[in-house]
Amino acid sequence: MLKCRECRDCNGIACRGEIPGVGGKGSGLSFIRNRQAMEHAAINMDVCAEPGETDTSCSILGSDLSMPVFCAPIAGIKNNYGVDISEYEYADMVLDACEKTGILAFTGDGIDLDNLFAKPARAVNDHHGRGIITIKPWVKEGIDERIAVLSDLNYAMAAMDIDAAGLPLLRAGLTPVETKTVSALKKIKECLKKPFIVKGVMTVHAAMAAAAAGADAIVVSNHGGRVMDDTPGTLDVLPEIVSACRGKITILIDGGIRTGSDVFKCLALGADGVLIGRPFALAAVKDGSEGLQKRILSIQDELRQAMLMTGCHTLNDLNPEMIRTLK
Ligand SMILES: Cc1cc2nc3c(=O)[nH]c(=O)nc-3n(C[C@H](O)[C@H](O)[C@H](O)COP(=O)(O)O)c2cc1C
Repeated sequence: MLKCRECRDCNGIACRGEIPGVGGKGSGLSFIRNRQAMEHAAINMDVCAEPGETDTSCSILGSDLSMPVFCAPIAGIKNNYGVDISEYEYADMVLDACEKTGILAFTGDGIDLDNLFAKPARAVNDHHGRGIITIKPWVKEGIDERIAVLSDLNYAMAAMDIDAAGLPLLRAGLTPVETKTVSALKKIKECLKKPFIVKGVMTVHAAMAAAAAGADAIVVSNHGGRVMDDTPGTLDVLPEIVSACRGKITILIDGGIRTGSDVFKCLALGADGVLIGRPFALAAVKDGSEGLQKRILSIQDELRQAMLMTGCHTLNDLNPEMIRTLK
């Protein structure tokens, strides 16, 4: 039975604490605050503007995209969604949908190296390398094993979800996860020889550390509220990270992004791109690549609408004054 309740507003309330499952950790507050922060940001409509087309296309870290939206890494499909879909099948559907709609997907990682890491990485290779491989913050041995898997595979970029350092199941494993210093991140980036994204940044300090390590991008993320209870929402911390790091590093964000209007808010507040997790994963596990393609295209339509209603023609036209924070 599908573990996700498919709520109309995927806001973390009904699934509080459900891990395995799709909920947020503990009280679920981190997930819930991601949504609340998104709801408290409103868009200042203004159509006194030049008429014309809206263009959502962009280039991020050397990849041309139809819009600055990525499919977030999601691992453990059977365990978390309760469906009989293998990790390779899931990655294959997601990568197919992303390829057909002109965006990029991340793959995930977990204790089972072959099933949770190598199979999705192989799917990226099978999709002409159009994907981003995410590695968990293992101790050196675990990272080396994964880099060895990648040695004969084609992929566009690599990422590390440093916020997985506290996951109890992973800390207790034979090859555990750990927190990472600037010099550790620097070494990983050097070994990977690809654009490198540090995912799980919630403070200016961590963003600056990622930049000092030579990372190409950060994802402002609390892992969808799954790694720590009681963090702020990601949109709550985005503006301070943008004002400290803009121009130094590419800034991506995820958590509670559900519509093209939400994408617009993140971009207007200074993000270069966004990742969407649960809504894309649900569309894929329920309706396969076609279902996910529909969801991606509807996000793009809504983003275009928000741009039209604020007088924006290209993504460069968005700015923070278009957003009003309601508290
Ligand atoms: C079931 C599930 C599995 C996840 N697995 C991973 C993973 O393997 N690696 C990772 O970096 N993030 C993982 N995440 C976090 C997502 O990549 C993303 O940060 C989060 O879901 C974004 O929030 P949203 O779902 O509200 O859009 C997972 C999230 C969920 C719900």
